[in-house]
Amino acid sequence: MSSILIIDDTDKYWELCTRFMPEHELLPPARNYREAAESLAKHRGVDLVLLDVHFDIPEDDLLPEDKAELLAKGDRGRALERLRRAQGLHILDRLRRTHPDLPVIVMTSRDDLPLEADAERLNAEDYTYLLDDEYLDARSLRLQVEGILARRVRAPAPDEPFYWGESTRMLALRRRLGILARGRLPIILLGGTGTGKSLIAREFIHPRSQRTGPFVAVDLSTIPNDLMGAHLFGVIKGAYTGATASREGVLARAHGGTLFLDEIGNLSLELQKQLLVVLQDGRYTPVGSVDERIVDIKLVVATNENLATMVQTGRFREDLYMRLNPATAVVLPSLRERGDDFAALLDEFLARVGREPYNRDLVLQYASQRGLQPPAGGEAMPISITRSVPPRPDTKRLHFLLHPSSFKALRDFEWPGNFRQFEMFLSNLITLTLVELVDQAELVEPGDPSHAIRPDVIPILPRVVRDLLRPMEMPRAPAGEAAGADDGAGGLRMTFVVRPQESLNAVSCDLERQTMERLYENYGGDLGRMAEALLGDSAAGRKVQLRMNQLGIKLRKLKRRRGSP
Ligand SMILES: Nc1ncnc2c1ncn2[C@@H]1O[C@H](COP(=O)(O)OP(=O)(O)OP(=O)(O)O)[C@@H](O)[C@H]1O
Ligand SMILES: [Mg+2]
Repeated sequence: MSSILIIDDTDKYWELCTRFMPEHELLPPARNYREAAESLAKHRGVDLVLLDVHFDIPEDDLLPEDKAELLAKGDRGRALERLRRAQGLHILDRLRRTHPDLPVIVMTSRDDLPLEADAERLNAEDYTYLLDDEYLDARSLRLQVEGILARRVRAPAPDEPFYWGESTRMLALRRRLGILARGRLPIILLGGTGTGKSLIAREFIHPRSQRTGPFVAVDLSTIPNDLMGAHLFGVIKGAYTGATASREGVLARAHGGTLFLDEIGNLSLELQKQLLVVLQDGRYTPVGSVDERIVDIKLVVATNENLATMVQTGRFREDLYMRLNPATAVVLPSLRERGDDFAALLDEFLARVGREPYNRDLVLQYASQRGLQPPAGGEAMPISITRSVPPRPDTKRLHFLLHPSSFKALRDFEWPGNFRQFEMFLSNLITLTLVELVDQAELVEPGDPSHAIRPDVIPILPRVVRDLLRPMEMPRAPAGEAAGADDGAGGLRMTFVVRPQESLNAVSCDLERQTMERLYENYGGDLGRMAEALLGDSAAGRKVQLRMNQLGIKLRKLKRRRGSP
């Protein structure tokens, strides 16, 4: 929630905002500059000011405080009237000096049009013409408010675990998630593997939920179907063979806090029904028990499947889907989709991997070999990535110099494993680059000319970038050993490795497993296309998934493998 201060001598804008922008906290309106200054001193976190222009207020309340000289000239009454008609700009002028970073929207009516230029001169964030049409006024004001607030969060706390970048789209997403986090309703997080769903649930949503209970995460793709009920809802001793003791479920552990159900698409229809009851009534029954338990959780779910399609094909209950608050589902963009922010992402993630212990030590070792000045206390040396040599040598920061062709190669790369893969790639990149330099330095005499170049600039060789990217390239067309080759008759030709097993059955399972894994690679993880190839039915993806489960293939692992270098 953002807090907004309205400075206005009437209640007009206050009423408009209360009615049409209930999601923001409105401070009591200030009627003149003095009240505004008091309010700003008292409420330090004001995000935005809405400022009227025309103030019909007593002479004593008008700015400037010392009006004697102004009023001495000409007609006193007219001078006062002029002051009242432009009072907002006097206030703005003052605010600019006392609160230079505070965004201000000046609200003018048509009569005040000439004031536009002044508002601009005084750096108003924006000005809005009100048309005396409540609905239209509220709409345009709201658009401006949202736009400005989205820009205002442009510099999130530097140590925020999830990096949002600088695009307006991501900052709007951050705001939206912040609002959803504080609400009572469940949140659906969608997005490909490695886009940060788990990270956001744990590090962003839960801390902002203002809930005192713990954060509990469960990855439903790793729990066998027959144990899932007990895992979620708990089990009473003797409920089934193997239930040798009563056990608390994750629901009970998350009481008062946040429950994060990852890969929610793996929940069986029966358990979906039970989860629905939790959301509706806050009640559930442990396996084997007759007593209902009461629970209070904030539910966050994630999936990279299409839940709406699952509803259509009967694999996901519609009533549960509706309860999960699908209207506000948040889709986390892939790395490719954040291309407009790529330079900032690169810089940020490089700095992050530079702080990993192994890389941090390498950087420090390099810095000490080359006479740079790392920060005291073994802290990581700041590093950044650049495409041109910075003009001035720096002894306190390292600059990795990336060739423009490498920058382009990275920006245009597919990155199927998104940020997880990106992070691993960058970590490898700086490790390999630095290890070579550190090893070399041990062979070089201190006065050697190769030491004469700028020690704070470390070129990243395009060859190293290429060599690291190549193994991660996804096979585009079925080819060779890793995937299947078209046999010319609508089939795929593959090669397999036959290994001795304890039984013929085990041998055929092993071959089937290889088939499934190859097909998964071949079709980029698209279960529908796999089903098309195997059964001629692209809607049978679930069958394929079940079969893979039975064969002990961990889809998660395959996804990771696709995403990792
Ligand atoms: N915006 C981000 N800022 C910083 N790190 C990120 C960001 N997004 C992803 N990461 C990194 O990528 C890793 C993977 O993120 P996370 O596990 O949240 O992905 P996910 O969407 O849950 O993937 P999966 O679907 O495979 O579970 C994180 O541990 C983190 O290191
Ligand atoms: Mg995850």
